[in-house]
Amino acid sequence: MRIGIDQIGFYTPNKYVDMVDLAHARGEDPNKFLIGIGQRQMSVADKTQDAVSMGINATLRYLDQIDKDKVGLLIFGTESSVDQSKSASLFVKSALHLRPEVRTFEVKEACFGLTAALMTARDFVRVHPDQTAIVIGSDIARYGVKTPGEVTQGAGSISLLVKSEPRILSLNDGHSAYSEDINDFWRPNDSAVAKVDGKYSTQVYLDFFKKTFDAYKEQKDWSTRDFSALIYHLPFTKQGLKANRLAIEDQDDVTKDRLSETFEASKQLSMRVGNIYTASLYMSLLSLLENYDLEPNSLIGLFSYGSGAMAEFFSGNVVDGYKEWINPKGDAALLDDRQRLTVEEYEKVFTEALEPVANNREFTSDERQGVWYFAGVKNDIRQYRQV
Ligand code: HMG
Repeated sequence: MRIGIDQIGFYTPNKYVDMVDLAHARGEDPNKFLIGIGQRQMSVADKTQDAVSMGINATLRYLDQIDKDKVGLLIFGTESSVDQSKSASLFVKSALHLRPEVRTFEVKEACFGLTAALMTARDFVRVHPDQTAIVIGSDIARYGVKTPGEVTQGAGSISLLVKSEPRILSLNDGHSAYSEDINDFWRPNDSAVAKVDGKYSTQVYLDFFKKTFDAYKEQKDWSTRDFSALIYHLPFTKQGLKANRLAIEDQDDVTKDRLSETFEASKQLSMRVGNIYTASLYMSLLSLLENYDLEPNSLIGLFSYGSGAMAEFFSGNVVDGYKEWINPKGDAALLDDRQRLTVEEYEKVFTEALEPVANNREFTSDERQGVWYFAGVKNDIRQYRQV
């Protein structure tokens, strides 16, 4: 039985900062951000968008195309959680009117969270082939104003429907995992912004990529040229470019050209959204599917990395007719319709979003009709509403 990704929903908030504006404000050469980091824009979440609302919005993108009564599992992967006890997935389940019999919870291991959820969903569907699973990755990457990590911030969510006989990507059995207890990036409970050993984190990422990619090829007895595309967790696109260069350095020209072209296609969304932690790898997948014509059954290699650190390499095959189930125009509109903030406006929005929310304080949202948002706290309970 084939099991994999049947639907992909994407959401990013309606505000962004342009990297050239940010470079000017920070006294940097714009090419450092555009070429050195590889980012053009970054989405900004105001105080009315959080992990929960973004996760609802991503899932809404495909909800009317699925049978809700078949959803037996809902997992929410995030490192931007809104509660220490209650799972973000329960807010989503309630907003989307999923049935009470659904098994639902939240998972965490930095950016690896959505991969953890996806693999659990694959196993669930294998045991319950007549049921489906929704897995969501939703995050706001915050390093702080005027920090080196500032240019690698972002906000957004990806939601995946996992089922048997999927219509987008069929996942292959097997994976190679590698973990070590290290301090490259972390966020203590009392800190709203991440702590990071930036240069070290970029090296560990590459080291874990090499380890897991080599181990996976050996396990499967495959070589680099067997892959139609390699895609990566993209904290910023230059990081993926470095991993891709490692992957192709000793390859023939045809393989080098193909894997360079597919990488270009896979980074398009990330360049405009920024890091969305758990969902970043799956935004690369969506970007590849939208910006490149893949033959049916093309083999895609996926590299997932979560700081702390845990990495996994796995693969899937593209399903014939996959283009019918994605929505490139709708996703482009989501990006094009965002409001461009000045750096001053972004700094204000950033600071406001970190302020504690007083009890019984209500927010309104300037999002489009139908978008869900965090509407404030009533009797200590978070409220979510639809515009
Ligand atoms: P930095 O120190 O400001 O930048 O921080 P830099 O000096 O290293 O420069 C960056 C690049 O720009 C360099 O290229 C420069 O040469 C180049 P490289 O040597 O890397 O090829 N450059 C220029 N290029 C063209 N024209 C110019 C120019 N000037 C310089 N004029 C850093 C960069 C990434 C460290 C910082 O932004 C940071 O700390 N970011 C956050 C950490 C991060 O994203 N780490 C990635 C790996 S860890 C990960 O992926 C997990 C994560 O997603 C979290 C999770 O798992 O939850 C982060």
